[in-house]
Amino acid sequence: MKALVLAGGHGTRLRPITNTSAKQLVPIANKPVLFYGLEALRDAGVREAGVIVGDTAAEVRAAVGDGSRFGLHVTYIPQHAPLGLAHCVLIARDFLGDDDFVVYLGDNFIVDGIAEFVGDFRRSRPDAGILLTKVPDPSGFGVAELDPAGRVVGVAEKPEHPVSDLAIVGVYLFTPRVHEAVRALTPSARGELEITDALRLLIDQGADVRSHVISGYWKDTGRVEDMLECNRMVLETAEHRLAGRVCGDTKVIGRVVVEEGAEVSRSHLVGPLVIGAGARVRDSYVGPFTSIGADCRLSDTEIEYSIVMERSVIRGVRRIQDSLVGKDVTVAPAEYAPKAHRLVLGDHSRVHLDR
Ligand code: TTP
Repeated sequence: MKALVLAGGHGTRLRPITNTSAKQLVPIANKPVLFYGLEALRDAGVREAGVIVGDTAAEVRAAVGDGSRFGLHVTYIPQHAPLGLAHCVLIARDFLGDDDFVVYLGDNFIVDGIAEFVGDFRRSRPDAGILLTKVPDPSGFGVAELDPAGRVVGVAEKPEHPVSDLAIVGVYLFTPRVHEAVRALTPSARGELEITDALRLLIDQGADVRSHVISGYWKDTGRVEDMLECNRMVLETAEHRLAGRVCGDTKVIGRVVVEEGAEVSRSHLVGPLVIGAGARVRDSYVGPFTSIGADCRLSDTEIEYSIVMERSVIRGVRRIQDSLVGKDVTVAPAEYAPKAHRLVLGDHSRVHLDR
């Protein structure tokens, strides 16, 4: 069983972070979301992974390397433009050969992993398998229709009138039979080769497409709200660990992780939260569900329910919440402040100010 991990794409919903960075590398509890997926694949017994990369190929390669630290052997497959999930399967044909494979969307997060799903597929070996989860409003997802035996008899992409509440999660299992279906596809209205079209074709040909419904937590981390929520979920399970220096003048409540080489002084930490390696936090409040990246600098600041990526500086700001701050960002009050805001913001930034 091989894996095809999709780590290209536009990432329009996470702009401006994705103007310069891969969305799959945005950290959840200070670890790129993609790494959780690679670990889940390894835990499901996969050893060989093809990673689809687009504009952010260099960054993804630098982060993942040859895959050995995840117990995987990684081959990179460049995609010249994000032409759809099924296009990824099409261009990976040589890598996939005649093996069964799992397609894993690199920005998806599945708390319980995929070992059970992959194990079931290996045992019964249908033509394809999809992972499903019940959602309150399925109209924003790919939706599956099942027969009483759990076989998939229909799939629809973002249907106006969903036939079930079962959304398709970003993990698919295929036998080589899918390649013929993928070759027969034509671009959809949005100009992409759709994986749901390939599934529909398989179903129409009478192929055995099964499903596995997960009960655990799943998130497509495509939007800032999803990232923050996912960060919250993972921090909920973090174990208290103070490897860095926490001075006696700091109050620590709840489960807090302070990584090696970090220093916290005259501050108030209310977990669950993580402060990354080499970060400095002083005279600040860091509240629940917050991840502060490696080598950040925080002073005279209050922050909670937020993600701050590496090397960013935040000083003299009260209070930041529900925020995603990229790498090497500075947030600070103006020194000689007229009653006006002075902003230097990248394209597609979103800033919510006091009126
Ligand atoms: P999506 O989130 O569906 O698409 P996107 O990355 O273009 O994001 P947005 O809608 O915000 O513009 O993609 C799911 C995953 O698959 C994601 O990790 C990116 C990856 N992907 C590719 O690698 N190649 C592709 O052609 C597409 C469409 C997605």
